[in-house]
Amino acid sequence: MDWKILFRTLFRRKSIDQITHDMGHTHSGFAGSNTAGSGASLAKVLGVWDLTAFGVAAILGAGIFSTIGNAAADGGPAVIFLFSLTAIACGFSAFCYAEFASSIPTSGSAYTYAYASFGELFAWIIGWDLLLEYAISNLAVAISWSQYFTGLLSSYGIHFPKYLTLDWVSASRAYEQVQPLIANGQTLTQLGAQGMSSALLKGYSAWMDAPRLLTIPVIVDLPSLLIIVIITGIAYVGIEESKKASNFLVLLKILVILLVIFVGATYIQPTNWSPFAPHGAGGVLKGVSAVFFAYIGFDAISTTAEECKNPQRDLPLGMVYSLVICTVLYSLMALVLTGMVNYTKLGVGDPLAFVFGPEGVNLPWVSGIVNIGAVVALSTVLLVYQLGQPRIWMAMSRDGLLPPVFAKIHPKYKTPWVSTILTGFMVGIPSLFMNLTEVTDLTSIGTLFAFILVCGGVLRLDPQRKSDKQKFKTPYISSRYILPILLLLILGGVWYFKPESFSEFFSLSNSALPGASTWEVISHKIPMGIYSIGMLALTFFSITRSLSLIPVLGLTSCGYLMTELGWTNWIRFSVWLIAGSFIYFLYGYKNSRLRETEVPA
Ligand code: ALA
Repeated sequence: MDWKILFRTLFRRKSIDQITHDMGHTHSGFAGSNTAGSGASLAKVLGVWDLTAFGVAAILGAGIFSTIGNAAADGGPAVIFLFSLTAIACGFSAFCYAEFASSIPTSGSAYTYAYASFGELFAWIIGWDLLLEYAISNLAVAISWSQYFTGLLSSYGIHFPKYLTLDWVSASRAYEQVQPLIANGQTLTQLGAQGMSSALLKGYSAWMDAPRLLTIPVIVDLPSLLIIVIITGIAYVGIEESKKASNFLVLLKILVILLVIFVGATYIQPTNWSPFAPHGAGGVLKGVSAVFFAYIGFDAISTTAEECKNPQRDLPLGMVYSLVICTVLYSLMALVLTGMVNYTKLGVGDPLAFVFGPEGVNLPWVSGIVNIGAVVALSTVLLVYQLGQPRIWMAMSRDGLLPPVFAKIHPKYKTPWVSTILTGFMVGIPSLFMNLTEVTDLTSIGTLFAFILVCGGVLRLDPQRKSDKQKFKTPYISSRYILPILLLLILGGVWYFKPESFSEFFSLSNSALPGASTWEVISHKIPMGIYSIGMLALTFFSITRSLSLIPVLGLTSCGYLMTELGWTNWIRFSVWLIAGSFIYFLYGYKNSRLRETEVPA
């Protein structure tokens, strides 16, 4: 094997001119007949407010209706700082996304940006990563949607059989937990009175009541399949229809959120804000993963780039506007929730409904509206991710890294219809049977990885940023002095406030992992170790090459957030990427269209 050729092939980059050229030609049935000779092209209908609505649609979902509660319960009212800091970290990446979206307005999003900046292998890896991330995120959101939806219906007296509203895996786990207690003579009513969660009791009942198919209980989560079918249908029939649905639902969801904020504000008791940071910085940082998850989404709108009227101008604006709107709403919501009840009570899955329920200020009419808001909000998240997935399939297929059929565009509806249907199946069918909520952190780690590559890509592509059409450029400030000073300040702060962190890092035991083996202790330090080495390298290049500060801070903050996601997620994520690399070598490496063309220098 000629290693030199292999290396050159894996890391050859697709130039911006080449990407723009391919985009234009794909639409008229260019090489590889991606459009199957239909001559169909995507419809350019999106303006800046549609994109902003898509951004808000994707961002405000489970984060504001659910995970905000646990973050507030861990950090207390000071969680508002975490919302602000995470918004700033996302803001750095948003600038970099905006710059790419402005110079390469393509549906491939981070996948194509990586192709232009780091080469084919990285492009494939990030594309593969995005496919996992979007699918898992929607799987979890669909399951959560089903819970809110069935809860909403039952508040109006409409009850489905439990075995049709739950996934098999959750019911089986609930059965295993509850059965021994029932066998010991306890009843479900007693277990409920002892505080057993309603989810466990529901799972057990579902398992017991379900019809059997060859002794196996038939338990499926029908509502989650139903919502995926509806959302996929909207995405299939057109971007215009998706836009209208998104605009309407986003308006509704913002009205519900504003209602909660304004009504809630009148019930604030300032004593609830004291102590402001009951568990210090450690408590606040415990919510990192949940809060970052809450912000994910603004990046997904870049997958609609080829359907925008003026992507170079509108995509950057749409991303920034949606991020700003959501930051304001999150911060207000965090303040109101922690002001209405004591933060310790907020560790529930539905904090917004909770604060207006009997254990909060007891306003049932607001609780009811919150439930409707949650169903609407989760639907909009599903819509944007069901739009995003097929467009990434399409971009990868157009480049030959996936089979050409996935780039087919519907002659009438102007959508990538094959990949839209495929992603509908990929999310809808598992949502019937599986509960992947424990792997939702994979969505966060995957997104952070994409952010890191996009920030790194901006640094790498610097010399190419000369396009006339490019309407947005990340403002340049040198990181030469600022980064080292900032890092020294942070390290000094840690040294002053939490000096034990340094000794803990180099110690072979970990108080958070009692009884763990030496390898377990070491393995949990690997993410921080990799980050520290990466930061040393980044500081070196910042000093020697005066790198642009905004992408550098994007790398610094996203890298740190990644270390907070834990070793197990790093392992799961690495396994996914390794599996993807095999597929690349089996298919993409041989079929890439880039090799048919001139390899850019
Ligand atoms: N940010 C999205 C949500 O909160 C993923 O649901």
